[in-house]
Amino acid sequence: MSGSNDHIGGEARRYGKATIGEAAARLHAGGLVAVPTETVYGLAADSTNASAVAEIYRTKGRPDFNPLIVHVPDMVAARRLGRLNDLAACFAEALWPGPLTLVVPKSEDCPVAAAVTAGLDTIALRCPAHPVMRELLEVSGLFLAAPSANRSGGISPTTADHVARSLGEKAPMILDGGPCTQGIESTIVAIADDHYRILRPGPVTEARLTEIVGKPPSGETSGKIEAPGQMSSHYAPSKPLRLNALSAMTDEYLIGFGPVSGDRNLSPDADLAEAASYLFAALHYADGSGKPRIAVAPIPGEGIGIALNDRLIRAATPA
Ligand code: TXA
Ligand code: MG
Repeated sequence: MSGSNDHIGGEARRYGKATIGEAAARLHAGGLVAVPTETVYGLAADSTNASAVAEIYRTKGRPDFNPLIVHVPDMVAARRLGRLNDLAACFAEALWPGPLTLVVPKSEDCPVAAAVTAGLDTIALRCPAHPVMRELLEVSGLFLAAPSANRSGGISPTTADHVARSLGEKAPMILDGGPCTQGIESTIVAIADDHYRILRPGPVTEARLTEIVGKPPSGETSGKIEAPGQMSSHYAPSKPLRLNALSAMTDEYLIGFGPVSGDRNLSPDADLAEAASYLFAALHYADGSGKPRIAVAPIPGEGIGIALNDRLIRAATPA
């Protein structure tokens, strides 16, 4: 079955031994499977199968210049695909499995399909912590390319239902492992010799990265886009979104934080990690509400708040 995605119309199937076995078989046959990770649900395919990878781009409507993250079970697998220097290994040892993606040079005989890296000579590697994704990696024995399981540019999915609604008819088999705990995509770090840069803020904060390797990220930017997927409009609901709102106008659905309560509060206790875990779910609710506009309360730009504000600013930018 070359690349054809023999899907079952986005039906969410509760995770278990039988469904993992079925998902692994679909992946081996070149199909796609939506699978929970600790950050967001991913749309997985065998990264070494070019037609399966092409099906990921088609299903998401994703531009082909935007490369994919490859998920691996451990460091041994990571070293098969990429060249991890001491700095990369230091991050990996401290933070894997977990919500950290490392962009490193591809290995010489890297077996992933060319479309995965969109022509770059680097590869994005992540060793996820979620038990369902880990089991799928183990049972399938594959290196899984997996972007977030939403239509390109849309709100990221943190439940099986979000995947079904975002991909609609095109949704493949969805392994339902409940809501994602972190709720925001992995921190992406690019490794260059003895320094590193944060390409996408996420659950692993700059302070934590600095603590691990004893030095901060380098601020230098090279001018060219280094995480091609970090488009200015992204994670976007279908309605206009207003930031830093202290109260709602009559036609707005207000997503609150801390003392700004709103229709739904990301964290009444103003806990940023809790807010991150609910952010995309709240945007999905707001998008599905009867109100034509969305407003979001101010969120402090510190720690994980940096990643929250990064997603919100893109969500508020019209395509
Ligand atoms: O938490 C996550 O990372 C989730 C889960 C499913 O693992 N995945 C995810 O994938 O967020 P996606 O495709 O939505 O975002 C991947 C990002 C894009 O911004 C892409 O441009 C960047 O990773 N990327 C991938 N390969 C790259 C490379 N070689 N160099 C620079 N950026 C890269
Ligand atoms: Mg995404």
